[in-house]
Amino acid sequence: MKTAPPVRCLVFGGSGALGSVVCRCLHEAGVKLAFTYHTNKAAAQSLGHELPDSKALCVDLLSIPALNQVVDEVAGDWGGLDAFIQCAGVGLTGPSDATQVHHTMDQVDEQAWERMLAVNAKSTFFAARRVASHMRQNGGGNIILIGSIDGVKPVPAPVHYAASKGALAGMTAAMAKELGKDGIRVNLIAPGILEGGMSRVLPENLRQEYLKHCGLRRYGRLAEIAAWTTWLALHNTYLTGQTILVDGAV
Ligand SMILES: NC(=O)c1ccc[n+]([C@@H]2O[C@H](COP(=O)([O-])OP(=O)(O)OC[C@H]3O[C@@H](n4cnc5c(N)ncnc54)[C@H](OP(=O)(O)O)[C@@H]3O)[C@@H](O)[C@H]2O)c1
Repeated sequence: MKTAPPVRCLVFGGSGALGSVVCRCLHEAGVKLAFTYHTNKAAAQSLGHELPDSKALCVDLLSIPALNQVVDEVAGDWGGLDAFIQCAGVGLTGPSDATQVHHTMDQVDEQAWERMLAVNAKSTFFAARRVASHMRQNGGGNIILIGSIDGVKPVPAPVHYAASKGALAGMTAAMAKELGKDGIRVNLIAPGILEGGMSRVLPENLRQEYLKHCGLRRYGRLAEIAAWTTWLALHNTYLTGQTILVDGAV
């Protein structure tokens, strides 16, 4: 019996907390995997060793030509792409050694606003557009973006972060409409606070507040988001244009 070829997946932000768990989950499911990193080469190398045959590529999402090149390189090597997962993002726009989020609107200057929107929203649009140009040649695929509860519900959040994540919801719905005729499905997973990753910069009082209002009374697990992501990448055929809020009922 002829076996189906592996699903070809590109993950942005494989060096991050969520991205690395997503990569492991996809790898375990037997996909052909490429992932990106930016500054954390050590994390990318260690993940690469852990996941044989995966491919790690360095990219700064502030450069649209660079991200186009990464997408083209992976799709070119594999003869196409079946799934794209955008797990890269920023929650802080201060100095790289800052450990706290911006709390108030007054602390967000023009530079911070532009960086947040550029990494979280602008790069996502251009990456999805480039990915779609490859997917449409192969009859379609799944594009999965990672947003946040902050862009969906009124929760205490840095306004520029919420704006960047809110932009993804509109983008997802509009892209699904435009790309549907090419067999391309676009969905956004919006997690609440997760056990690891960028939520480490949240002040303790906010973390406690979240637990108080969360129906399940706990933070989400990275593996729970990775499981949804993997399902969408491998099995989704009709769900598109949706923002899937995974917040334990806040
Ligand atoms: N963790 C949570 O509680 C939580 C909750 C809701 C939503 N989310 C969302 O989940 C996604 C992943 O978050 P995380 O917790 O895994 O964060 P993380 O551990 O800080 O990882 C962030 C990832 O984004 C990459 N990245 C950042 N700036 C980049 C740039 N300019 N160019 C290319 N790559 C860049 C990082 O690469 P390097 O490290 O290699 O520089 C890293 O791979 C984000 O979109 C976040 O908003 C997370």
